[in-house]
Amino acid sequence: MNRRSFIKSSCKTCITVLPIYWLVQACQITKPITNFQFIQGKITLKKNEFLVQKNNQTIYKKFIVIKPEQIDFPIVIYRVNEQQFNAYSLKCTHQGCELTPYDIAMVCPCHGAEFNLKGEVTSGPAETDLQSYPIIFDNENIYIQL
Ligand code: FES
Repeated sequence: MNRRSFIKSSCKTCITVLPIYWLVQACQITKPITNFQFIQGKITLKKNEFLVQKNNQTIYKKFIVIKPEQIDFPIVIYRVNEQQFNAYSLKCTHQGCELTPYDIAMVCPCHGAEFNLKGEVTSGPAETDLQSYPIIFDNENIYIQL
Protein backbone atom coordinates (compact mmCIF):
# COMPACT_ATOMS: atom_id res chain seq x y z
CA MET A 1 0.00 0.00 0.00
CA ASN A 2 1.46 3.33 -1.00
CA ARG A 3 1.17 6.55 0.97
CA ARG A 4 -1.74 7.91 -1.06
CA SER A 5 -3.75 4.71 -0.70
CA PHE A 6 -3.06 4.62 3.00
CA ILE A 7 -4.28 8.20 3.52
CA LYS A 8 -7.33 7.58 1.35
CA SER A 9 -8.16 4.40 3.25
CA SER A 10 -7.65 6.10 6.62
CA CYS A 11 -9.96 8.97 5.69
CA LYS A 12 -12.67 6.58 4.55
CA THR A 13 -12.38 4.72 7.83
CA CYS A 14 -12.63 7.94 9.84
CA ILE A 15 -15.64 9.13 7.87
CA THR A 16 -17.37 5.81 8.45
CA VAL A 17 -16.39 5.08 12.03
CA LEU A 18 -16.60 8.50 13.70
CA PRO A 19 -20.31 9.15 13.11
CA ILE A 20 -21.10 5.66 14.43
CA TYR A 21 -18.91 6.29 17.46
CA TRP A 22 -20.62 9.66 18.13
CA LEU A 23 -24.04 8.08 17.70
CA VAL A 24 -23.23 5.31 20.16
CA GLN A 25 -21.79 7.85 22.61
CA ALA A 26 -24.91 10.01 22.31
CA CYS A 27 -27.19 7.05 22.90
CA GLN A 28 -25.26 6.03 25.99
CA ILE A 29 -25.24 9.52 27.39
CA THR A 30 -28.90 10.26 26.80
CA LYS A 31 -30.16 7.07 28.39
CA PRO A 32 -32.25 8.31 31.34
CA ILE A 33 -31.00 7.51 34.80
CA THR A 34 -33.43 5.81 37.13
CA ASN A 35 -31.78 6.50 40.46
CA PHE A 36 -33.83 9.47 41.72
CA GLN A 37 -36.82 10.16 43.93
CA PHE A 38 -40.01 11.94 42.93
CA ILE A 39 -42.03 13.07 45.93
CA GLN A 40 -44.79 15.68 45.81
CA GLY A 41 -43.49 17.37 42.69
CA LYS A 42 -39.91 17.45 43.91
CA ILE A 43 -37.15 15.40 42.31
CA THR A 44 -34.10 14.47 44.35
CA LEU A 45 -31.01 12.91 42.82
CA LYS A 46 -27.42 12.41 43.86
CA LYS A 47 -24.82 14.79 42.47
CA ASN A 48 -22.53 11.84 41.87
CA GLU A 49 -24.85 10.73 39.05
CA PHE A 50 -22.74 13.09 36.95
CA LEU A 51 -19.55 11.17 37.71
CA VAL A 52 -18.24 8.63 35.27
CA GLN A 53 -15.05 6.58 35.10
CA LYS A 54 -13.17 6.93 31.84
CA ASN A 55 -9.63 5.70 31.20
CA ASN A 56 -9.01 5.34 34.94
CA GLN A 57 -10.09 8.92 35.52
CA THR A 58 -13.20 10.30 37.12
CA ILE A 59 -14.84 12.90 34.93
CA TYR A 60 -18.18 14.70 34.96
CA LYS A 61 -20.89 14.10 32.41
CA LYS A 62 -22.05 17.36 30.89
CA PHE A 63 -25.69 16.39 31.45
CA ILE A 64 -28.00 13.66 32.62
CA VAL A 65 -31.59 12.87 31.70
CA ILE A 66 -34.37 11.71 33.99
CA LYS A 67 -37.88 10.59 33.07
CA PRO A 68 -40.29 10.52 36.01
CA GLU A 69 -43.36 8.51 35.04
CA GLN A 70 -45.55 11.28 36.49
CA ILE A 71 -44.67 13.69 33.68
CA ASP A 72 -44.90 13.34 29.90
CA PHE A 73 -41.43 14.46 28.86
CA PRO A 74 -37.93 13.81 30.18
CA ILE A 75 -35.96 16.46 31.98
CA VAL A 76 -32.34 17.22 31.17
CA ILE A 77 -30.03 18.54 33.86
CA TYR A 78 -26.88 20.29 32.70
CA ARG A 79 -23.92 20.60 35.02
CA VAL A 80 -22.43 23.97 34.10
CA ASN A 81 -19.90 23.76 36.94
CA GLU A 82 -19.76 22.71 40.58
CA GLN A 83 -22.00 25.63 41.54
CA GLN A 84 -24.46 25.70 38.67
CA PHE A 85 -26.98 23.21 37.39
CA ASN A 86 -29.81 23.91 34.94
CA ALA A 87 -32.89 21.75 34.38
CA TYR A 88 -35.15 21.88 31.30
CA SER A 89 -38.07 19.99 29.89
CA LEU A 90 -37.12 18.14 26.70
CA LYS A 91 -40.45 19.08 25.13
CA CYS A 92 -39.90 21.17 22.03
CA THR A 93 -41.80 24.44 22.20
CA HIS A 94 -42.68 24.27 18.50
CA GLN A 95 -44.99 21.26 18.23
CA GLY A 96 -44.03 19.16 21.21
CA CYS A 97 -41.51 16.62 19.92
CA GLU A 98 -38.95 15.25 22.33
CA LEU A 99 -35.61 17.03 22.05
CA THR A 100 -32.29 15.26 21.88
CA PRO A 101 -29.73 16.71 24.32
CA TYR A 102 -26.07 17.05 23.40
CA ASP A 103 -23.11 18.55 25.22
CA ILE A 104 -23.50 21.91 23.50
CA ALA A 105 -27.20 22.14 22.56
CA MET A 106 -30.60 20.48 22.48
CA VAL A 107 -31.93 19.62 19.04
CA CYS A 108 -35.41 18.76 17.84
CA PRO A 109 -35.49 15.76 15.50
CA CYS A 110 -38.86 16.79 14.01
CA HIS A 111 -38.19 20.16 12.38
CA GLY A 112 -34.68 21.04 13.49
CA ALA A 113 -35.18 23.64 16.21
CA GLU A 114 -32.15 24.14 18.43
CA PHE A 115 -31.80 25.41 21.98
CA ASN A 116 -28.66 26.44 23.81
CA LEU A 117 -27.66 25.31 27.30
CA LYS A 118 -29.68 28.19 28.78
CA GLY A 119 -32.82 26.77 27.15
CA GLU A 120 -32.98 29.65 24.68
CA VAL A 121 -34.04 29.15 21.07
CA THR A 122 -31.04 29.50 18.77
CA SER A 123 -32.64 28.13 15.61
CA GLY A 124 -36.31 27.92 14.60
CA PRO A 125 -39.00 27.08 13.82
CA ALA A 126 -39.51 27.15 17.61
CA GLU A 127 -39.97 30.69 18.91
CA THR A 128 -40.25 30.11 22.65
CA ASP A 129 -37.51 29.12 25.08
CA LEU A 130 -37.70 25.81 26.91
CA GLN A 131 -39.51 25.36 30.19
CA SER A 132 -36.95 25.49 32.96
CA TYR A 133 -37.28 24.20 36.50
CA PRO A 134 -36.00 25.73 39.74
CA ILE A 135 -33.04 23.79 40.98
CA ILE A 136 -31.13 23.88 44.25
CA PHE A 137 -28.42 21.62 45.62
CA ASP A 138 -26.26 20.85 48.60
CA ASN A 139 -23.04 18.89 48.92
CA GLU A 140 -24.74 15.60 48.15
CA ASN A 141 -28.02 16.12 46.29
CA ILE A 142 -29.74 18.11 43.60
CA TYR A 143 -33.40 19.12 44.10
CA ILE A 144 -35.65 20.04 41.19
CA GLN A 145 -39.05 21.57 41.85
CA LEU A 146 -41.63 20.83 39.16
S1 FES B 1 -41.58 20.12 17.02
FE1 FES B 1 -39.56 20.77 17.41
S2 FES B 1 -39.05 21.99 15.71
FE2 FES B 1 -41.07 21.35 15.35
